[in-house]
Amino acid sequence: MNTHIFSTQNDVAKALAEELANETAKKDKLYVALSGGSTPKVLFRLLSNLYQDRIDWSKIHFFWGDERCVPPDAEDSNFGMTKTLLFDKVEIPEANIHRVKGELSPEEANTDYIREIKEHVPVANGLPCFDLNILGMGEDGHTASIFPDQLTLLDQEGPTAIASHPKTGQKRVTLTGKVINNSRRVIFLVTGAGKAQRIKEISHSTGAGYPASYIKSAGGKAEWYLDEEAASLIK
Ligand code: 6PG
Repeated sequence: MNTHIFSTQNDVAKALAEELANETAKKDKLYVALSGGSTPKVLFRLLSNLYQDRIDWSKIHFFWGDERCVPPDAEDSNFGMTKTLLFDKVEIPEANIHRVKGELSPEEANTDYIREIKEHVPVANGLPCFDLNILGMGEDGHTASIFPDQLTLLDQEGPTAIASHPKTGQKRVTLTGKVINNSRRVIFLVTGAGKAQRIKEISHSTGAGYPASYIKSAGGKAEWYLDEEAASLIK
């Protein structure tokens, strides 16, 4: 497990923000998939506060690893959260933001997102290839919206698929495992004591069965950016 451990959640966010700045400086265009949930909020706040001028946002095309099938202004929209915390505070062209249209039916949203990805994301190894895929991990070991009871989404054909949250049944659109694993870099952003047990299991290769344990990058291993709480059982 390729871990990078930092003292606090904010230190993890700083390290990831620096990676994004470095990657953006190296390329004319950067294709980035973001995670949703609560963990990335600290990253988006940091970027909007300290990286407004340090990053040329016009170079970055943003996608999502997954999105809930809800309208963009819904409280649990990953796009809506990112817009509020980041996009509304930096100079990024609207054309660079490629959201899942959660206001449509799951089938229509999935079809539209596949079109959007195929239209914009470069291809490598016959699949869309994101430069940087920032993922979170749930306490059940899911990532994006690939849940433990839906492991077939890891190998399913096609860049995206419709998933269902195992507890709420909420429909989601998620990148499939094949496309995630075709990303040039995959960085997990995982913080908090609640994730420590899963991190331990995944690091000891007993994590088979957790979707996050099957994730890698085109170049090799996924990178795990952890705070000390999430890493407390592997140090
Ligand atoms: C989502 C996410 C999901 C998230 C994990 C961790 O849409 O919920 O993309 O995969 O990253 O559930 O969520 P937290 O960061 O809230 O713990």
